[in-house]
Amino acid sequence: MTEELPPPGAVAAYPEPDAATVRELLLDWCGAEPEDADAAVAGLAALDAASRELADRLYQSIAADMGGRKWLPWPTVTEPHSLLGLFPLLAAVPDMLAYHRERGVDEDLSRRVLADLGEKLRFNRRLYGKAGLDVANWFTGHVRGSLYQLGRLQFCVEGPDPKPFVGMHIRGEGGPLTLDAVRDSVEWALEFFPAVFPERYGGPEDMAFVCESWLLDPQLRDWLPEHSNIPGFGALFDLEGPGDAAGARNSVWRFVFSRTEDTPAETLPQENTLQRSVLAGIKADVQWRNRFGRLDLARLGL
Ligand SMILES: CC(C)(COP(=O)(O)OP(=O)(O)OC[C@H]1O[C@@H](n2cnc3c(N)ncnc32)[C@H](O)[C@@H]1OP(=O)(O)O)[C@@H](O)C(=O)NCCC(=O)NCCS
Repeated sequence: MTEELPPPGAVAAYPEPDAATVRELLLDWCGAEPEDADAAVAGLAALDAASRELADRLYQSIAADMGGRKWLPWPTVTEPHSLLGLFPLLAAVPDMLAYHRERGVDEDLSRRVLADLGEKLRFNRRLYGKAGLDVANWFTGHVRGSLYQLGRLQFCVEGPDPKPFVGMHIRGEGGPLTLDAVRDSVEWALEFFPAVFPERYGGPEDMAFVCESWLLDPQLRDWLPEHSNIPGFGALFDLEGPGDAAGARNSVWRFVFSRTEDTPAETLPQENTLQRSVLAGIKADVQWRNRFGRLDLARLGL
């Protein structure tokens, strides 16, 4: 997959961030922890010529597709340094800010979308016990201007032209997934996307929202406690297809237990009702599935 990346310098000179810029962007814009900023500065200094060239090519893939849909299919870039994928993303922040300014997106929203980077650096520490960014390509949606955090939810321009559907994504940090929070976010998105992308959406009536997640698995209703927000969220969607059980192991291990998928079930944490309920299902041989669904706005009263 690396071969498919553009050559170094193909679109624009690679503005490799220096140590001070890395620190400033991570601490002031991404809300990262000082230990992750320190690790990134050390990682930058440790990059050899081949890694710098790869970072340049990754940056070129972003620069070549500003405003493009979804995120880019990068190779996994955690070798030779676990933060290698971070540097081309940080290099692209000025491009993202310029794109946002051009489209009339407030700087406050630019900061909010970058906060996901700080979160995922924290999350990688929980998963692997050290600094890293294992799904760096996810953030190519953020820096190319296709993904926005509007209230509790993230929304990403994903489907085919001319009116791509909008994918809904749920960060771990940001509080409970209440129906009020979901409604507020979707209401915001219905205004935001036609205003920012008028060439795609003439108005709210042009928009369709989809979600693919372990959260949409209807089997969860049988296992989660009454007070759980998750079944209510799942019930907002019309499900399509049988779902994906293989992918769900990765999602459930990652998002419910903050563990990598090779962690044996017997050692998964059981610290709260969500973890205990999902683990009870695993022990009863439930095959959790990632499910795909289309949001029914009427179920939100919209
Ligand atoms: C989706 C999410 C926000 C739902 O949170 P919520 O609205 O609080 O969920 P519920 O009401 O069902 O569950 C609340 C319980 O789950 C626990 N919980 C909430 N988020 C959790 C998480 N990320 N990991 C583990 N446990 C979590 C709470 O501590 C609470 O436990 P308690 O009942 O013992 O107090 C939450 O699961 C989350 O942050 N997930 C990670 C992100 C994710 O899965 N995104 C989708 C990717 S496809």
